Amino acid sequence: MTSQNLAPIKIDALVKDYGSLRAVDNVSFEMKPGEIFGLLGPNGAGKTTLISTIMTLEEPTSGSVQVFGHDVTKEPQITKTLTGFVPQELIHHGYFDVEEIMNFHSGYFGLRKNKERIDWLLQKLSLYEHRKKKVKALSGGMKRRLLIAKALVHDPKVLLLDEPTAGGDIELREQLWTFVEELKSQGLSILLTTHYIEEAEQLCARVGILQKGKLRRVGPTRELVKELTKREIGIRLKQEPTSDPTHPMFLRRVGSELIFETPSTMGAGDLLDQLNLDLKQVADLNIREGSLEDALRRVLGDKVATGGAV
Ligand SMILES: Nc1ncnc2c1ncn2[C@@H]1O[C@H](COP(=O)(O)OP(=O)(O)O)[C@@H](O)[C@H]1O
Ligand SMILES: [Mg+2]
Repeated sequence: MTSQNLAPIKIDALVKDYGSLRAVDNVSFEMKPGEIFGLLGPNGAGKTTLISTIMTLEEPTSGSVQVFGHDVTKEPQITKTLTGFVPQELIHHGYFDVEEIMNFHSGYFGLRKNKERIDWLLQKLSLYEHRKKKVKALSGGMKRRLLIAKALVHDPKVLLLDEPTAGGDIELREQLWTFVEELKSQGLSILLTTHYIEEAEQLCARVGILQKGKLRRVGPTRELVKELTKREIGIRLKQEPTSDPTHPMFLRRVGSELIFETPSTMGAGDLLDQLNLDLKQVADLNIREGSLEDALRRVLGDKVATGGAV
């Protein structure tokens, strides 16, 4: 059913209108097999709407969505079986226990004997010892982990995670990302949205940046950061200079340190050459690379809130 070369998710000219609001505006991109792809953008950018169309929770106004070559509106049974989905909102089945939820969900996919996988998932997500607890007795973090276990119960080939760590503590986030890396190493393709840009930078080979429904950028994370950000090079001199350099990339001087803003492709050696500086005159070099957060700020204007949240 799946071929190794088919895109796990292929979005083509997707438009989704809610009345007069265009929540997704002519978006096209495709994921590569086995990659972790990050969908980033401020609140209201259209991330959840886009994921909802993959899950057939929302119907596209126009354009198409394919999962491993199958159109989600034409073959929803196939695409839903291939996909695991962790929604942004917590859902409640309060009166069932953890194991019952996992068994029900296996049954939904026609899997009657799934104990081995269920136990593995519950162990991986630190829920095994809580498997007899009613959902209403679980903490927020445990409910979130149960949603993730549930999404994986039928061994999907692509996993959609919509803000899986929002509001979670650092322990939950670390545990989840370690698990996500493990799933990726087993060949699972993963599409995620997250508020934690630093984490997206570490995890995602490629990212797409959405703003007001439009895909502003898509590409390999490293390349986007390189293209969109500058690096700061600080040159601390052994002797404090008497005047500031006239170099066009000069930013400011702090005591004996001259700070320059250079393209990400420019090395410190080139800068020293251009300044006619000898290494003997230099006490220290301080290089600060641009980050994905800087890149986002560049694309979105000042929409990146403080603390790494988007
Ligand atoms: N069911 C809906 N009805 C009307 N408008 C919606 C609905 N769902 C989302 N929207 C609007 O669509 C836009 C995109 O929302 P959403 O996809 O939730 O963004 P994100 O997940 O990036 O925060 C927002 O302006 C939101 O208010
Ligand atoms: Mg959302």
